[in-house]
Amino acid sequence: MAFRSFAIRTFGCQMNVHDSDKLANLLLHAGYAAAEPDDADVLVVNTCSIREKAEHKLYSDLGLLRRWKAAREGRLIGVGGCVAQQEGDALLARFPQLDFVFGTHNLRHVPAMVRAAEAGQRSADVSTSRSLDRFDLPERHPQFEASTPGRAFLTVMEGCDMFCTFCIVPTTRGREVSRPADAIVCEAEDLAARGVVELVLLGQTVNAYGRHDVRRGHASSNGTMRFSALLARLAAIPGIERIRYTSPHPLFFDEALVAAHGDLAPLCPHVHLPVQSGSDAVLARMRRRYTGDDVRRLAESLRRARPGLVLTTDLIVGFPGETDAEFEATLRLVRDAGFVDAFSFKYSPRPGTPAAGLPDAVAEEVAQARLEALQAQVRAQTLAYHRSRVGGEADVLIEGRSRRAQQLAGRDPWHRVVNVAAEHFPDVAPGQIVRVRIAEATPHSLIGEPDASAGAHPGSRNLPVASVPESGFASGAVAIRR
Ligand code: SAH
Ligand code: SF4
Ligand code: F3S
Repeated sequence: MAFRSFAIRTFGCQMNVHDSDKLANLLLHAGYAAAEPDDADVLVVNTCSIREKAEHKLYSDLGLLRRWKAAREGRLIGVGGCVAQQEGDALLARFPQLDFVFGTHNLRHVPAMVRAAEAGQRSADVSTSRSLDRFDLPERHPQFEASTPGRAFLTVMEGCDMFCTFCIVPTTRGREVSRPADAIVCEAEDLAARGVVELVLLGQTVNAYGRHDVRRGHASSNGTMRFSALLARLAAIPGIERIRYTSPHPLFFDEALVAAHGDLAPLCPHVHLPVQSGSDAVLARMRRRYTGDDVRRLAESLRRARPGLVLTTDLIVGFPGETDAEFEATLRLVRDAGFVDAFSFKYSPRPGTPAAGLPDAVAEEVAQARLEALQAQVRAQTLAYHRSRVGGEADVLIEGRSRRAQQLAGRDPWHRVVNVAAEHFPDVAPGQIVRVRIAEATPHSLIGEPDASAGAHPGSRNLPVASVPESGFASGAVAIRR
């Protein structure tokens, strides 16, 4: 029996979202069609195990999927991603409704695993390797639909060698491997030719790109280079208006990378910089290899290189042994570094990680109270920043319609969500950039209006960075650019 259609459910971070895109593309090339889960023959769940709650989502999902599978004969279920990497064929043994399990290094083998499953053969492949083969993937299939037209993820490195004591990622994603620069640039050129204007460079510690290969600043035998040099190559590609990267580690900001934020106009004035804690003692127990003051200095140099640059972060509260004073150090760092937004989490012990064995667990109610206090402070900082933007201008990459259908929603270069009334931009489609004036600030987003002040749009790409004021770009009329 031949199966014709597939659907993918994705949990976890942007690497997983991008892996699901790669998998969808592979299955399209293998002759399958994309479908909604209700109509699909093959359903793949791409999993995350960063916190216990994320991992449990898979198990509750698999319960529900038993019914999905029973509803039509011959349906198949596969599980991939970080839980799959961790559990391997134990998942097949535990869940009879599962047909195949693949790890984070094995996307390319999935079409063959689906075919084997169609022939009645259940399989698990969670083998890992340092080979660069896993980066060799086919180009976008004509039927591939990007979730956000105009923007594309681009893998530059995978894996993590940092082994922060709380984190499961080095186990689930394996060792750090950087992709040759030529292959990255080639993919970026292809994306630009297809209308992509914004690249989001991905890696677990993305700014560690090439660090194992680069010797005294020369390109290595693996074809990598300094991260800042890679950024410069990508910034020179015609049509690429915006470049972001996620997630960088504070340890790998060298002078050249900081300077790149002043030199490369397409490099967005936003850095998502996970710092986890503001207490030096907690940072040491987490094995993060920097201090709160290192972060303060880095924030300052980035803002000196690019005035108006926005920093956002990830934070963990309730790490084993965290005292009230240590938690307050986090609040102080969030204030001093001027983070505009943050993802904050209660520490969740992950099996096999060093921190899972640490004494002095923080009581759940204490961790909850700290989370709420931290989030209240972050909300206040977000709103203060949003208010500071009112009256300024922004170029917004339209992503789609917001829940209230009369609004178009997109992101500005500072990564803030901007909503604009659709009636003002009847001809604008997702993937296009419009210039607006910020009329209003809300806790979660900015509201943009057509910019009445006349004058041709200068094109942000050619604006010298020095002329970009704190609150936005220089004046211009509403314009649509591709
Ligand atoms: N590579 C990135 C983070 C990837 S994981 C970095 O180095 O910062 C995404 C976020 O999940 C982390 O920044 C951290 O805040 C959170 N996280 C990771 N492990 C966690 C755990 N065991 N408990 C709670 N939060 C965790
Ligand atoms: Fe996890 Fe640390 Fe690696 Fe980030 S740098 S993925 S937090 S081990
Ligand atoms: Fe989750 Fe794996 Fe990403 S654990 S956060 S999907 S790297």
